[in-house]
Amino acid sequence: MSQIKIAPSILSSDFANFGAECRAIEAEGADWVHVDVMDGHFVPNITFGPAMCKAIRPHVRTVMDVHLMIAPVDPYIEAFAGAGADIITAHLEAGPHIHRTLQAIRATGAKAGLALNPGTGIEPVAHLLDMIDLVCVMTVNPGFGGQAFIDSQIAKIAALRRMIGDRPVHIEIDGGITAETAPRAAAAGADVLVAGSAVFRGGSVDAPHVYGDNIRAIRSAAAKGAGRMA
Ligand code: DX5
Ligand code: ZN
Repeated sequence: MSQIKIAPSILSSDFANFGAECRAIEAEGADWVHVDVMDGHFVPNITFGPAMCKAIRPHVRTVMDVHLMIAPVDPYIEAFAGAGADIITAHLEAGPHIHRTLQAIRATGAKAGLALNPGTGIEPVAHLLDMIDLVCVMTVNPGFGGQAFIDSQIAKIAALRRMIGDRPVHIEIDGGITAETAPRAAAAGADVLVAGSAVFRGGSVDAPHVYGDNIRAIRSAAAKGAGRMA
């Protein structure tokens, strides 16, 4: 399995300062930048769209990981790919044709991610394994940052890890990740940890070392949980 990656969600950053926030978290050790796109329909909150992704792209040197919490998805895939998304993740629950959606994402040249809400089982993933680069296990109900981690998802992560075997498919977990919850998720087999509040809490672009401290705390807790050195 690959090294643990930390993907801060800019949902918890300063919305008046996205470019500087992206540069700051990357300078402080973020592996990917996670961008939460919400439509006020699939989830009860509205954030940003492809134009914002395009605007921050020059400030992201690593991987722009775009999590679409929108329905429908298909009409917007080209726009997010054109905005420079490296990974485009769509929800299994967002429409009746997830297979078509994943095909359309890969056709743009972006990597394809499949997100599962906490109430969704993993059986459909078995039919999609060869067309995805990432499974995103939601450990909160999507829509807002700062919610509590849902423990029942640990068993889902472990079952997905068994299903994936040695295929090159990341297991990303998203929601409520802290230095306290990360070890259990990493032990179960998650290798990409999205964290919003736990990364941005207490820091700012003027005090970015706090972001670094927060990222290191999550990374080392996760590495210990997974039985590896940080
Ligand atoms: C939730 C989003 C998450 C969220 C994580 O709908 O997909 O990425 O921002 O935030 P925290 O880490 O605060 O739970
Ligand atoms: Zn997310």
